[in-house]
Amino acid sequence: AKRDLVNIVEVGPRDGLQNEKGVIPVGVKVELINRLALAGCQNIETGSFVSPKWVPQMAGTAEVITAIERLPDVHYAVLVPNSKGLENLSSLLSTYNASPQAETTPPPADEISIFTAATDAFTRANLNTSISESLTRLAPVTRSAIDKGLRVRGYVSVVVACPYSGAVNPKKVREVAKELIEMGCYEVSLGDTVGMGTPATVAEMLEEVKKGVPVEKLAGHFHDTYGTAIANVFTALSHGVRTIDSSVGGLGGCPYSPGATGNVATEDVVYALRGSQYSVAGSEYGNGTLDLDKLAEIGWWISAKLGRESTSRAGRALRAK
Ligand code: HMG
Ligand code: MG
Repeated sequence: AKRDLVNIVEVGPRDGLQNEKGVIPVGVKVELINRLALAGCQNIETGSFVSPKWVPQMAGTAEVITAIERLPDVHYAVLVPNSKGLENLSSLLSTYNASPQAETTPPPADEISIFTAATDAFTRANLNTSISESLTRLAPVTRSAIDKGLRVRGYVSVVVACPYSGAVNPKKVREVAKELIEMGCYEVSLGDTVGMGTPATVAEMLEEVKKGVPVEKLAGHFHDTYGTAIANVFTALSHGVRTIDSSVGGLGGCPYSPGATGNVATEDVVYALRGSQYSVAGSEYGNGTLDLDKLAEIGWWISAKLGRESTSRAGRALRAK
């Protein structure tokens, strides 16, 4: 029987590393991204063009994306918070376009991710503005990025709970998601930034958001703070969502969401979907899916670089075997 294809967006190099205190060398980030592509990943968030004063760990993104070995048929995305971020990316892309490299190598990035949230308090902490002002600022960024041939993905953070203002109204999530789609985003990723979501609250939120945005344009982005991320992934799939954000080794956390842990581990999602009605999309390098053994190794390798163990449950189990 034909199985439903699930797209994974690997956010480890961005969401996974943005909250690290120590400096991670550019070479390590480059190797991480290269290895993920060779494990079959077709969508990789490689870094952010945000203010280095706000998120110091992402300061080297321009160097990173210039140095990675880009593979065809892989989307390489960077986070952009404002017009300044897009200008910085655009000048890098102009340099690439004018170089002989442009004939033979895909561009350093073909996609941007813009981001806002479902509460003003979180948007203030993350972007130093209100929801409505963030949308006003992001509309021209989106138009201009699309004019330059980039795909634009939108994020709504704190779709279930906000670290500053508590439980979140699903109607607000629907409104913001709808605005991002109308602005030109091809997809909106719904972020349980704090990781407090449960199958019940995620289902309630999705039911509401689906009234404003076709489910084909929604992605699920779950942090695992309370251990519910895999359950929430399955909840999203059962509601028709077919794109899931995850992070190798379970890396991650948002600097503006105190105490929140990493994203659901990519290894855990791939393992949990085995033998189900869903199959995980991947490139030829992962034999048409994502290579679980390679992912588990990458999860251990990057965790060791950060001075700890992989938090992926599947990654730990596979190593113990
Ligand atoms: P601001 O301080 O209001 O900005 O911050 P500003 O326009 O006043 O500029 C302040 C300084 O930053 C200036 O430099 C600007 O030039 C510079 P100075 O004159 O002081 O030397 N600047 C920039 N530099 C580089 N790139 C830029 C840029 N913009 C301004 N793009 C701002 C506003 C949006 C810049 C700031 O709030 C910011 O960078 N925020 C980003 C925060 C962030 O990256 N958060 C993590 C990602 S979101 C997330 O993790 C959630 C997600 O995973 C989903 C989920 O889990 O929910 C996506
Ligand atoms: Mg996140």
